[in-house]
Amino acid sequence: MTDLTRRGLFAGGAAAVGALAAGAAGATPASASAAPLTPGDGGRAVEPFHGPHQAGIATDPQAHAAFVAFDLLKDTGREAVVRMLRLLTDDVRRLAAGHPALADTEPELAAVPARLTVTFGFGPGLFRRAGLASPVEPLPPFKRIDRLEERWSGGDLLLQICADDPLTVAHALRMTVKDARSFARVRWVQRGFRRGLLTQPRGVTQRNVMGQVDGTVNPRPGTPEFDRAVWITGGPLGGGTTLVLRRIRAEMETWDAADRTAKEFTVGRTLATGAPLTGRLETDEPDFTRLSPAGFPVIAEYAHVRRARVDGATIFRRVYNYDDGLSPGGEPDTGLLFASFQADVERQFLPIQRSLAEADLLNEWTTPTGSAVFAVPPGCSPGGYVGETLLA
Ligand code: HEM
Repeated sequence: MTDLTRRGLFAGGAAAVGALAAGAAGATPASASAAPLTPGDGGRAVEPFHGPHQAGIATDPQAHAAFVAFDLLKDTGREAVVRMLRLLTDDVRRLAAGHPALADTEPELAAVPARLTVTFGFGPGLFRRAGLASPVEPLPPFKRIDRLEERWSGGDLLLQICADDPLTVAHALRMTVKDARSFARVRWVQRGFRRGLLTQPRGVTQRNVMGQVDGTVNPRPGTPEFDRAVWITGGPLGGGTTLVLRRIRAEMETWDAADRTAKEFTVGRTLATGAPLTGRLETDEPDFTRLSPAGFPVIAEYAHVRRARVDGATIFRRVYNYDDGLSPGGEPDTGLLFASFQADVERQFLPIQRSLAEADLLNEWTTPTGSAVFAVPPGCSPGGYVGETLLA
């Protein structure tokens, strides 16, 4: 698990990172230093690249992200896949530590790692190309809600690039795309953002572009619940996970026209604090049995939080907002890059998605336009490469 205060590593030398968290009123761990935050510190913070799990999953979400999916070129076979993964692993290992990639044409840009993580995901096509059975498949269609576009869907290889600085993300994207070029071509890139640790204390739930507090009920990294929900145990993918990425447009024009009561009714939580409509605090447990004086459930039958709660199905949402400006018709193209990590798509993600697709008041204001599923291999050792446990 990522912990800036305990890990305390800066690129170019060790230093107490407590200062970063010390700016976080109310969320400052006891071990944090009282030293003031020095401008520039956040740029030098690094996330460890090696370990049993890939970085960028349990890592405190960084403020900026780019998700890039590649299609393998038709003559990229198993050996070439391994060469590509070795090369990309080497790039990421260096960049995450604040060092230039080999043959980095803008090496100065690597000096600000800003907690860079690059998480690799393998789509069904990569497994097939390597002569392996794929542990993941695209989601089944959800005809009532999906308006999927090819340009945001699928992919053989995914890199989820996250950092607290957008130029760091852009540089890592450019270096990895350049080095993947002999093996694969870019299928799509989706850029996202959220409030990061440098602007909002740890423990404060982020808000999405619809203004909602988003991420309240989510397993906490470092807890047994998180480990059970996210990590695959045993086998070549042991220590890995799966990623479902859904691009979901928020229909802001009509959402803006809805009043506050309707918006809160839709989700089942208040906009002001994120508290359930039956509670006072964000952390209060929703009471789904409570009835209004008129005899109706206070949290509606089809409210998002009610439909999203499916017995035995837990996912870890590590969601980014996106905002791609205006459509030719002048409508905002904005919404969520809904990234969900879970050990098993079939048993954890799909029951929730089915329940939501069937009846969720929020569907009125949200439209899935992209969908992709990836197996996320475990982390690697200093001499290894991501994917080694599957391909070696
Ligand atoms: C644009 C689309 C979406 C928006 C704006 C949205 C927003 C929210 C909000 C505001 C909450 C309540 C606060 C919280 O616990 O985080 C929530 C809860 C949740 N959402 Fe979504 N969501 C979206 C799509 C999805 C999708 C596609 C899934 C899964 C397939 C999902 C699964 C969940 C789950 C599991 C919870 C926690 C429910 C609970 O146990 O209380 N959401 N979402």
